[in-house]
Amino acid sequence: MTGQSASLASSPLGPSPQAPDRRHGVGLTSRGGVAAGRSLTAIGAVARVVRRGVLLLVTGAVGVAAEEPENPYTSGIDVRMGLRQFQSKCTSCHGVDGTGGEEADGPDLTTGRFQHASTEAGLYEVIRDGIEGTSMRGLRRAGDQEIWQLVTYLRTLSRDVDVASLPGSVEAGRAVFERLDCGRCHMVEGRGGRRGPDLSRVGGRRGPDELAEDLTEPNAEVAPRWWTVRVTRADGTVVEGLRMGEDTFNLRIMDDEERLRSFAKASLRSVEREQKSTMPAEPLSDAEHDDLVAYLASLRGSDS
Ligand code: HEC
Ligand code: HEC
Repeated sequence: MTGQSASLASSPLGPSPQAPDRRHGVGLTSRGGVAAGRSLTAIGAVARVVRRGVLLLVTGAVGVAAEEPENPYTSGIDVRMGLRQFQSKCTSCHGVDGTGGEEADGPDLTTGRFQHASTEAGLYEVIRDGIEGTSMRGLRRAGDQEIWQLVTYLRTLSRDVDVASLPGSVEAGRAVFERLDCGRCHMVEGRGGRRGPDLSRVGGRRGPDELAEDLTEPNAEVAPRWWTVRVTRADGTVVEGLRMGEDTFNLRIMDDEERLRSFAKASLRSVEREQKSTMPAEPLSDAEHDDLVAYLASLRGSDS
């Protein structure tokens, strides 16, 4: 098995430099998936807030274009949190899919254009403050994070990103995708691998900026489903892969050839879980990068 761990180490899946705080060893008996997921969100959010340090200072100063606060909560996890809140607080008036209420008078929120806001910060204000004189009441008691997550979710509803206005070319991007064999990990329209998320609708889920970041910083935000698990056996050999399942006695992971492998926990020296992606950051030229973003943004499922 040494042969295999050697090939792992030299492959793009091999260990990459990690800041110590993103690394997260988990004991054999720990099943802290959920708690760890939360701490991941927190770490990601803090990192992003720190990186965009202005945010905290100017949240109230909407309207000054140069200081428009940026939404720090835009990950896939934030989309899901926003969806959950939307379902519990907004669908009675705006409809389950956001296209407008049948009985109530909430308008369609999926057109990509809003009457009361032209930016994310504007949407933030509408959701926080409501719209005077209408049944749209603000979420005054909600936290900053909750409101931004709603903004993030609302943005995924609009089917209106104009792919033609992006700098890259969809066709050239498709060719780059094929040349770099992204499909060995990603499914598009039913073809491809399972070691990464299905990208058939990624353009509806992720905005162009987020897609650009997905390509250059795959480790920036990784949902627990895609964490890397590293198993060290009693003889010291190492196997890395995606965690597929776990119970008291066994751990199942999918290795880099999509083989499902099962390990008896008692026989292992250690199991480490790393909050990093198995996705390699490919060295791309600027043009290739733009083309890939355009191609990914164009993926909206077959009904688009
Ligand atoms: C009691 C009904 C009601 C609920 C609940 C409600 N809304 Fe609204 N919302 C409205 C109405 C009515 C309007 C349109 C007000 C107007 O412009 O006349 C509106 C407008 C909006 C707008 C602005 C649309 C535009 O074109 O500018 C946004 C954004 C919005 N709502 C988001 C939300 C979110 C997010 C929630 C849940 C947290 C929510 N609403 C809950 C009734 C509601
Ligand atoms: C070795 C497997 C692997 C390869 C090769 C790979 N990816 Fe990924 N990719 C992943 C995994 C795992 C994730 C989920 C974790 C993360 O966000 O990094 C991911 C995430 C993504 C996402 C974000 C998807 C979402 O739903 O948030 C995009 C976009 C993406 N990859 C595009 C690409 C493109 C384009 C290529 C080719 C240049 C590529 N990937 C090559 C494994 C891979």
